[in-house]
Amino acid sequence: MKFTLKDFDEKARTGLIETGRGQIHTPTFMPVGTQGTVKAMSPDELKEIGAEIILSNTYHLYLRPGHEIIHQLGGLHKFMNWDKPILTDSGGFQIYSLSSLRKITEDGVEFRSHIDGSLHFLSPEKAMEIQVSLGSDIAMAFDECTPYPAEYDYAMKSLTLTTRWARSCKQFLSSLQPSAFSHQPFLFGIIQGGMYKDLRKKSLEDLVEIGFDGYAAGGLSVGEPKEEMYDIIEFIAPLMPENRPRYLMGVGDLMDILVAVENGFDMFDCVMPTRNARNGTLFTSRGRISIKRTEFKADADPLDPDCDCYTCRNYSKAYLRHLFLSKEILSMRLNTIHNLYFYLDFFRKMREAINSGTFKEFKRYWSEILQAKAV
Ligand code: GUN
Ligand code: ZN
Repeated sequence: MKFTLKDFDEKARTGLIETGRGQIHTPTFMPVGTQGTVKAMSPDELKEIGAEIILSNTYHLYLRPGHEIIHQLGGLHKFMNWDKPILTDSGGFQIYSLSSLRKITEDGVEFRSHIDGSLHFLSPEKAMEIQVSLGSDIAMAFDECTPYPAEYDYAMKSLTLTTRWARSCKQFLSSLQPSAFSHQPFLFGIIQGGMYKDLRKKSLEDLVEIGFDGYAAGGLSVGEPKEEMYDIIEFIAPLMPENRPRYLMGVGDLMDILVAVENGFDMFDCVMPTRNARNGTLFTSRGRISIKRTEFKADADPLDPDCDCYTCRNYSKAYLRHLFLSKEILSMRLNTIHNLYFYLDFFRKMREAINSGTFKEFKRYWSEILQAKAV
């Protein structure tokens, strides 16, 4: 994988990932397209707001419509009409959070579909086979997301299993003929270890010994207090290989992202901007607002006067409030366009701040806005 570091501001860094399907400027935010669609957005709209990569899910696409069907139809990019990079999560986390009756063995996980209760089995090999047949650009190793809280012994066993599975994922991918792919996917290993620093370190060291294109921290933002998550982020980021992308999985609160970028993380994904948009919670340069509030009833101003998105260029807060209260489809579309634009613009400005050596000021400025109470 070609990953070039550009600038450092203390531990924060900017860089460029180059894939067969395009470039990704880091730190980067990946909008979540679980079902092969970023909810409420067309791929053209995603490009227009500057998305360079999206995330999709092995678990969901395997269950519905089935990876074989997507493969038959030319792969996920063609299926959903998105020609830029796609990172696919491996299914480990989704089994943990969505399915019932999980049975973990050395070989993989047996689980019931959250859609129809049918029985399935995912293994490292199967998770790789699915991600390859989807045509993923960055595949994630199959892991067990250690729950919170977890006893030391459980966390240790879980990370040992995750490491073993990560090795199987790499071996399986290496065993495939080049003709199996249109674009050979990169493979990222996932660090587990719960809230135990020595286990986190061991997890990372074992993965580095196997060797991956990038490294992710998993098992965070799973119910632990913020201080514990920050503690692990600060501990693990500087230990991760400097010349490989560092991905913090599922963490998308902007304050958390500032802390993670400050410590040297490069990649993020989260449903927060898209899900909040559909619930009427909108991010602005002056803090979060709930669009349903009465004070916006006759407010002719745009949502965010500093925002250049399609929504802010064309509509008033009063109209957005009306659409939301009327449960109109356009409400979700306009809100999602704005929130994702806001996130991607935040990342653009954050990269500029790192490049110009002003990340500290950037973080201080945004911390105040982000920690203010929503109106
Ligand atoms: N998304 C958020 N956390 C995790 C994790 O621990 N593992 C995987 N595979 N995906 C995640
Ligand atoms: Zn906007």
